Amino acid sequence: MSCFISLCLSIWVVLMMPGRTSALNDNIDVMVLLPDNNTYLFSYQRVFPAIEFARKTLNGSELFGGLKFNVRYENSGCGGDALFALVDKQKEERPDLVLGPVCEYAAAPVMRVASHWNIPVISAGALATGFREKNSEFSHLTRIAPTYLKMAETFLAIFKDFTWRTAYLIYEDDKEERNCFFTMEGVFTVLSEYHIVTDLAVLNSHEERVDTDGIISSTYGSEVVIMCAKADKIRELMLAFHRRKLTSDSHIFFNIELFNSSSYGDGSWRRGDKFDNEAKAAYSFLNTVTLLRSTKPEFEVFSMEMKKSQQESGIPVCEDCSAVNMFMEGFHDALLLYAFALRDVMSNGLTKKDGRQITHSMWNRTFEGIAGQVSLDANGDRNGDFSIVRMTDPDAGTHETIMNFGTNGTFKPMPGFKREWFSLRTAPEPPPPKHIESSSGGLGVSAVTGLIVGGILGTALLMAFYFFRKNYRITIERRTPREECDIGKHRQLREDSIRSNFSAA
Ligand SMILES: *[C@@H]1O[C@H](CO)[C@@H](O)[C@H](O)[C@H]1NC(C)=O
Ligand SMILES: *[C@@H]1O[C@H](CO)[C@@H](O)[C@H](O)[C@H]1NC(C)=O
Ligand SMILES: *[C@@H]1O[C@H](CO)[C@@H](O)[C@H](O)[C@H]1NC(C)=O
Ligand SMILES: *[C@@H]1O[C@H](CO)[C@@H](O)[C@H](O)[C@H]1NC(C)=O
Ligand SMILES: *[C@@H]1O[C@H](CO)[C@@H](O)[C@H](O)[C@H]1NC(C)=O
Repeated sequence: MSCFISLCLSIWVVLMMPGRTSALNDNIDVMVLLPDNNTYLFSYQRVFPAIEFARKTLNGSELFGGLKFNVRYENSGCGGDALFALVDKQKEERPDLVLGPVCEYAAAPVMRVASHWNIPVISAGALATGFREKNSEFSHLTRIAPTYLKMAETFLAIFKDFTWRTAYLIYEDDKEERNCFFTMEGVFTVLSEYHIVTDLAVLNSHEERVDTDGIISSTYGSEVVIMCAKADKIRELMLAFHRRKLTSDSHIFFNIELFNSSSYGDGSWRRGDKFDNEAKAAYSFLNTVTLLRSTKPEFEVFSMEMKKSQQESGIPVCEDCSAVNMFMEGFHDALLLYAFALRDVMSNGLTKKDGRQITHSMWNRTFEGIAGQVSLDANGDRNGDFSIVRMTDPDAGTHETIMNFGTNGTFKPMPGFKREWFSLRTAPEPPPPKHIESSSGGLGVSAVTGLIVGGILGTALLMAFYFFRKNYRITIERRTPREECDIGKHRQLREDSIRSNFSAA
């Protein structure tokens, strides 16, 4: 009798709560869109072992052991190939889940098509501000790495705390992937929402030389300088700022380097040339904004395995630094997140084909990722934590994390932090008159061309930002003719490329 009751009971349990008691059983078709080129930190060879690791973890768990992930990889490049790969796949059967792409211009069309096909997409990239529009074309996108907008909120918090009012943004633009453009777009968006006056300068990636004189003369008047560029260009700029005595008292310097931890920190000023000592002194005024890296004991196993896989695929890994980057962590956690969401959706009687419900089940969720807690906001974007790293010992040149930021707008000073590093002792001065004279072989001519080309430049920049924000506030000052010329030349290209990827509203 009691045996009969317990049988009834277990049948009842199975019937009433299928998702809670029975393990999931399904084949999940996963399409991974990443570039097949190890110059990218998110190349397939680097990220694939992380996805495999997650797959093994799920396979070994009681609840998810029945899920079979058929992972298929396509080379997305960083441009249009990603879309073609996805569309070609349509000839067979559409995937149940898309992981990637990372590059903005590869991601945009893929996200649109996947959203249209009701397929969930999770990416550790697509960090640009435009992707936050989840009401229409990016409706099925979940971003598992902290976006540029979240990063920019850390700037806002610190601007508010130290009551800074003006910022000068310097970014490098390669006219292709445009990482620094999108990074600064986030900063610009957030700061201008709070009426912080921003001005900006663009460095052309394809040019070796940086017009430091031109940049310096337009930096006067801004309290805070925020830069995003390759390590060598940051060094050149910092050397120039230091020589012109802008580093002490009147300006605060930030450099944004979210992903490549080998390009900042101890020794990042060193090139083995005669400027090393000067560079070290200049770098003692530089603050680098990066992702907060948290680790837990389980992470070690993951880290060791990633190192091994990379060595096997011939990717150089340095001995003492981390072989794991944010993209590996992100795509690992993406598979877990999908499995959690799928379980919840299936327990409500839906299937893996209910892409919209699975996507929404991933949002507004906090779970334990490989490196620590991962929390997604109600719009499906990861809440991020960031750190500021600075040289704390100018003699030894060693760096430390001096502040950590939570996305909730609070920041926590670390033991090495000194408030005076962020105190402006003198108001930014106007540029010294001597400089204006020295740069004017023919003042009349350059003033006129400055006006005309300045107008073109202004239009180009405004157009560029127009597609992302309609309410902007921007001041444009003098720029060098060479830079202006370049921007004028690329104006057409820039507008076209933006229009095709992030169409105007
Ligand atoms: C990888 O990308 C870099 C930079 O875009 C390029 O120079 C290189 O030729 C590429 N390598 C391969 C094998 O395609
Ligand atoms: C999943 O686990 C089963 C046994 O638990 C094992 O036979 C199988 O090889 C595993 N699959 C993968 C992809 O690890
Ligand atoms: C990371 O930074 C180092 C040092 O600046 C540089 O050599 C390397 O090419 C960078 N890696 C990537 C993928 O950008
Ligand atoms: C997010 O989840 C919390 C509880 O976990 C809930 O109270 C809140 O209403 C949710 N927010 C949205 C926008 O769904
Ligand atoms: C913000 O986040 C920090 C660190 O994650 C936490 O200690 C703090 O309590 C949070 N503050 C609020 C107001 O949620």
